[in-house]
Amino acid sequence: MIEPNSKEALDLYAKIEDLIGVKDAAPKLYRHYFQIFEKLEFNSLIDIGCGRGDFLLELGNRYPQKEFFGIDKSPQMVQFAKENGVDANVLELKEINQKFDIATAVFDMVNYLTPQEFIGFFEDLKSVVKEGGYFIFDVNTEFGLSEVAVGNFISDSGDRFLAIESFYEGGVYESFFTLFERDKNCYKKEVQTIRQFHYSEEFFKMLGGWELSIKLPMKLYDLESYDKILYVLKKEC
Ligand SMILES: C[S@@+](CC[C@H](N)C(=O)[O-])C[C@H]1O[C@@H](n2cnc3c(N)ncnc32)[C@H](O)[C@@H]1O
Repeated sequence: MIEPNSKEALDLYAKIEDLIGVKDAAPKLYRHYFQIFEKLEFNSLIDIGCGRGDFLLELGNRYPQKEFFGIDKSPQMVQFAKENGVDANVLELKEINQKFDIATAVFDMVNYLTPQEFIGFFEDLKSVVKEGGYFIFDVNTEFGLSEVAVGNFISDSGDRFLAIESFYEGGVYESFFTLFERDKNCYKKEVQTIRQFHYSEEFFKMLGGWELSIKLPMKLYDLESYDKILYVLKKEC
């Protein structure tokens, strides 16, 4: 069995996200979501894997009368989100006693679920989405994982030195992170691994209780193939 991504690994990712330029594509991705929201009636939304809360912040500005809440497995991410003024917490879906009109999982969060976590996640999701409500999310395509996200990356910002090596094989993408972070007169070393898993449309079609209503392939990086797909699932009544 593959171990789920740990809080420690996700916290390390939270600490270095600003170094890797991954969020440069976020405005383009978020625009696709906002276009979908314009066509939907809703009053409340939960963002799962809200990260630093950039998406919720933008939503709050667009819809000041609506209710937004974020959850994330990484305490470091939630701390950043709170510092950004976003209502967020470290909670699991099971711990939430409220139903929302819409749930979102933006920028690959679903790819972080191991195959063992995947089915349970969609079952738990039913208890936080109202009947007839929506789950809107994007996932990396196989091209996105195997061609766009692989390779080596180094960043040296003086106080932080980061090296990442990423590989893809057989539906599993692995990123090995090494961070040296200045702590007074020494450098503290942290090593963590994060895994993502490729999920094709077939996985989402086989989920009971959810109807696939929109599938939107995207070229976030303007390459020859689609690197992400945005899906809208409607919860059956
Ligand atoms: C690539 S980041 C995207 C963050 C944010 N949605 C955004 O648009 O910037 C993926 C996020 O999913 C979170 N995450 C990964 N697995 C999770 C899980 N099982 N439950 C909740 N959050 C998770 C990570 O901690 C991280 O913040």
